[in-house]
Amino acid sequence: MLERNNIYLGDSYELIKEIPDKSIDLIVIDPPYQIDGKPKSKEALENTKNEITKGINKLNQELMDNHICDGIKEEIFEEFMRVMKVPNIYIWCNRKQIPMYLNYFVNKLHLNFEILVWNKPNVMPLYNHQYLNDVEYCLYFRGSNVCNPKCYDDARTVFKNPTNKIDKFAFHHPTCKPVNIIEKLIKNSSKENDLVLDCFLGSGTTAVACKNLNRDYIGIEINPKWYKIALDRLDGCDANGQQSFILR
Ligand SMILES: C[S@@+](CC[C@H](N)C(=O)[O-])C[C@H]1O[C@@H](n2cnc3c(N)ncnc32)[C@H](O)[C@@H]1O
Repeated sequence: MLERNNIYLGDSYELIKEIPDKSIDLIVIDPPYQIDGKPKSKEALENTKNEITKGINKLNQELMDNHICDGIKEEIFEEFMRVMKVPNIYIWCNRKQIPMYLNYFVNKLHLNFEILVWNKPNVMPLYNHQYLNDVEYCLYFRGSNVCNPKCYDDARTVFKNPTNKIDKFAFHHPTCKPVNIIEKLIKNSSKENDLVLDCFLGSGTTAVACKNLNRDYIGIEINPKWYKIALDRLDGCDANGQQSFILR
């Protein structure tokens, strides 16, 4: 059985089976995105003068190198529903994944839902008569009585927050989420001492947010590099093992 206030190195598709039925108050996850098609090779890019193609390719290559572009297997959705006391789950995703999640949680299970947005005012100016890549989506699926924003500002559905350069620099993870946004989600949808699961933990953002807010957590991460960084981060150190200059 997985214990509270621990993070585990392993495959969440397997480890989640060790979590008892109806034991989790809230799930907050940021699973791999679904990115179709391979990035262009270095040689092909050397011949392109298009800075936008180069920029997008660099981002995709970083995600591919870190196995953060293979999407999520739908088989785990049933496990999410099994371990939660009542449906209460935030899922970060990219645009392509929205229909799959809505199909399962809304069309099939008829849950309430919100589409929350992290808007980044300072994204790279990769404009070529196309919309900017300046938002990330977070879907929220819930039953009744689990969401209770305490003030008008906490009830907003758009989080205006610059790209997360400081945390990325400190913890090296290419898709590190801002702690303040994750804290807002957790505060709105859980109480002190509740148990929060993040089974795609990355650099440990959800666990750190739980610690800051007196929530218990269980984290699972498959990549030993991110697992170690998350462990150190929970001890107040950055990716170089230095005491983190920012309290996160
Ligand atoms: C988008 S990142 C999460 C980043 C995280 N939100 C943060 O702030 O650092 C997804 C993470 O899921 C991990 N992952 C992918 N497949 C997994 C699996 N089967 N079990 C556990 N972790 C997995 C990846 O290694 C990656 O670190």
